[in-house]
Amino acid sequence: MEQLDDAVLHRSRFGTDFLWGVSTAAFQIEGAHDTDDKGLSIWDVFTTQKGAIKGGHHAQMATNFYHGYKDDIALIGELNIPNFRFSLSWSRIMPQGQGEVSQKGIDYYNNLIDHLLESGIEPWVTLYHWDLPYALEKQGGWTNRESIKWFADYAEVCARHFGDRVKNWMVVNEPSVFTGAGYFLGIHAPGRRGIKNYLKAVHHVTLATSEGARRVRAILPDANLGTTFSCTLVEPASDKEKDVAAAKRVDTLLNRAFIEPILGLGYPEKDLPVIKKMTGYIQPGDEERAAFDFDFIGIQCYTREVVKSSRLTPYVGASLVKASKRQVVTTEMGWEVYPPSIYQLIKKFDAYPQIKKLIITENGAAFPDTVIFDEVRDGRRTKYIKDHLQQVLKAKEEGANIHGYFVWSLTDNFEWAEGYHARFGLIHVDFETQKRTIKQSGRWFAQFLKDA
Ligand code: NOJ
Repeated sequence: MEQLDDAVLHRSRFGTDFLWGVSTAAFQIEGAHDTDDKGLSIWDVFTTQKGAIKGGHHAQMATNFYHGYKDDIALIGELNIPNFRFSLSWSRIMPQGQGEVSQKGIDYYNNLIDHLLESGIEPWVTLYHWDLPYALEKQGGWTNRESIKWFADYAEVCARHFGDRVKNWMVVNEPSVFTGAGYFLGIHAPGRRGIKNYLKAVHHVTLATSEGARRVRAILPDANLGTTFSCTLVEPASDKEKDVAAAKRVDTLLNRAFIEPILGLGYPEKDLPVIKKMTGYIQPGDEERAAFDFDFIGIQCYTREVVKSSRLTPYVGASLVKASKRQVVTTEMGWEVYPPSIYQLIKKFDAYPQIKKLIITENGAAFPDTVIFDEVRDGRRTKYIKDHLQQVLKAKEEGANIHGYFVWSLTDNFEWAEGYHARFGLIHVDFETQKRTIKQSGRWFAQFLKDA
């Protein structure tokens, strides 16, 4: 059975141009939180707040990628992974978020990029993966309209310094998650709450995405330029009209509200009336400003949500039926394992004529792995990846415009509010010793990629 699955899933079926990669983010791996000139980011500060992170964990060391990147790049090579996605830490490059550029920050990323290229691995750079410079948060962060300019200036600095070697760029990572968790629920940095903070942040991040992209494009006309969105299959808990309507609102919030203005379609306020409250923050010309013609859209998919109507939940009138209440298989994050969701989402995004190319820029799973005699038997992760790839292949063979798949993540790392409890890596990290152990899933992926 196992062999049959592998035969069906052979890499060659995805075609020779299909991109294979692995994804990471600066704050989750780098550590070196105050090394050289680095300024504080909102996550450096948030992680010091009591009760903010499970187990009181912080990321001052994380996986020590800042110092040990050469060893980790050697492991990427050992796993036969041709593309590496990582993010740039804004406050390492511009310690105050604007103005002065740190030469040491630039040198670090130059060395990293050069080393990747020397190792035959293609860099895929995300400009913003959630670690806003704290100096900017003190001025309102993303709730301040100036943030559009701050971000665009930073994007320009990055394009100028690294664009001669980096061909693949992603502007922002999962805007729905960092605005929702960071500015509405307060469970991620900067820990703010409330609808006003949230809607302002949403609008400014949307405009910053397109403005940042325009700056990169102006300097690097030939760059492969994209941005990434989190997406989740949303299904109603029953076929009752009110649950179906609730699912539509949640789908609009999770899957449409962030991408549609970028595609030039404006905000989907008809299907999510709370967006109308944003009117006060919208200026004439913003709808046009929000649009940008990206070369590719990165979609990041992990699970599905089942939704029911709930009058008590403000703004969306819907609540999630937790996976734990549905007797389904879940990961360590409590997320349902539901591979068909990635197929459905590829189809859903493929249906937008404005999208030129889709790439899965993240997919993966957290399980409580342990090292026994130098081995990590994470069969559940291997199965998760295989089953998702099977669904990606199905969509591709039906003609969907899907061009790549990046696993989240290279190594276990700092999983935001979950601290080090959720292990997503193809490579296990012992956070006491920083020892790496390639998991069986990593070995499986390496073999899969080798069988060209
Ligand atoms: C999405 C985020 O981009 C990444 O930072 C996070 O670790 C993974 N999903 C898993 O939750």
